[in-house]
Amino acid sequence: MVELLPSILSADFAHLADQIAAAERGGGTTIHVDVMDGHFVPNMTLGPPVVASIRKATRLPLDCHLMIDNPNEYIAAFAEAGANWLSVHYEACPHLHRSLELILHHGMKPGVVLNPATRVDLLVDILPMVHHVLIMSVNPGFGGQEFIPFSLHKIRRLAELRAELGLDFRIEVDGGVAHDTVAAIVQAGAELLVAGNAVFGAGQPERDARALLAAAREAEDQMTVSKVAGGKSKIH
Ligand code: DX5
Ligand code: ZN
Repeated sequence: MVELLPSILSADFAHLADQIAAAERGGGTTIHVDVMDGHFVPNMTLGPPVVASIRKATRLPLDCHLMIDNPNEYIAAFAEAGANWLSVHYEACPHLHRSLELILHHGMKPGVVLNPATRVDLLVDILPMVHHVLIMSVNPGFGGQEFIPFSLHKIRRLAELRAELGLDFRIEVDGGVAHDTVAAIVQAGAELLVAGNAVFGAGQPERDARALLAAAREAEDQMTVSKVAGGKSKIH
């Protein structure tokens, strides 16, 4: 079942608790928190103190996406702040296995993130360790960018690899998830949909989260219908 992860990057930071509550009423099931350091990506956002405050404002799991250099140095701090899922970039981790072990050691669900130009197949050996793989469908750093179309091939390839390897990690997509892209994203095999601008951009997070999730579910239902139809046509 697809899920919506509202990304607070596009929320009104002066009213975060209210904005998160509205996105939850609209159907968001996990809150996506973008952490940027001005080095790994050309933008800065927030760190563990803000995560600790958000932790008190919602019961939903917090999915922290670290877009920072040397993430290992901050893993303990995010665990202490109350992060539930923690993902690190493949491109920022020369010792990715160690990073994922550290995340597990601190009791969080580990994820690995791929920039648009990084191949999915590079993850083959590490996939058994992860709870989720996050495919960036824009270059990380900013909300409201356009979805990069070849990300769909990456999602499909990742779903294929998961089936080949008999694993059950979840496939997450981040960047440009909106009304006009969500059906293709779901049909490619993504289950965790991160959306910032499409949820918070118009200042109506409850309404817009609900509408986006409805579009995602509709695409998912169509897949089920076509699978059933495909199965039947083979029998006849
Ligand atoms: C971008 C962030 C995203 C961002 C997505 O670097 O990782 O989580 O919020 O924003 P939209 O949904 O507006 O593309
Ligand atoms: Zn993100």
